Amino acid sequence: MVNCDGTEFTGSGAGGGGADFVAMGEDVYQNVANCDGCHGAQGQGGVGPGFSGVVTTFGSCVDHIEWVTLGSQGFLDAGASTYGDTNKPIAEGMPQFGSTLTEEQLAAVVAFERVRFGGADPAETLTDCGLAPAEGEEGEAPGETTPGEEPPAGGETTTTVSGAAAALAPAS
Ligand code: HEC
Repeated sequence: MVNCDGTEFTGSGAGGGGADFVAMGEDVYQNVANCDGCHGAQGQGGVGPGFSGVVTTFGSCVDHIEWVTLGSQGFLDAGASTYGDTNKPIAEGMPQFGSTLTEEQLAAVVAFERVRFGGADPAETLTDCGLAPAEGEEGEAPGETTPGEEPPAGGETTTTVSGAAAALAPAS
């Protein structure tokens, strides 16, 4: 079994309920995407907002992933003037990571923010973020990708993550 990036899946999180995805998200946050440079090492905020209320801003992990995928400009381009369930005005400055991070990295860094800074339950979060199957549920987990799916016309905040990420993915 291999990870998304082709490296060997070591199963280091086995028994830990997928804790390795949170650890992967921390690595993305600090080292890969340098989210900490704008949001602070403890998620306390800086150039960008702090994350103590991030699970209120985005009640759904999928919406949180969409925001990080598209960034401020992506939302503006889709015709939105606000983001999140709390309709925060877009002040600009949040980069889009849909073309630089894999879908797994995006989900992991979002799960990390929700658990570590937002106080969300780890197991629920991993399921909500599509990183673990729902308890007693077969088939598609939320956030499961559907390759080739087009974002709905008109954009706004209903653009699907999988469609958005596919649209932004570098041609390879
Ligand atoms: C260059 C600075 C910068 C970097 C790097 C950055 N952000 Fe942001 N982020 C911002 C700014 C500025 C905003 C507010 C954007 C707006 O109002 O349009 C924001 C907003 C957010 C929000 C909304 C939080 C809320 O409750 O309002 C989330 C979530 C977020 N960023 C996640 C991330 C993640 C995850 C990364 C790394 C993958 C990241 N950011 C990297 C600047 C940055």
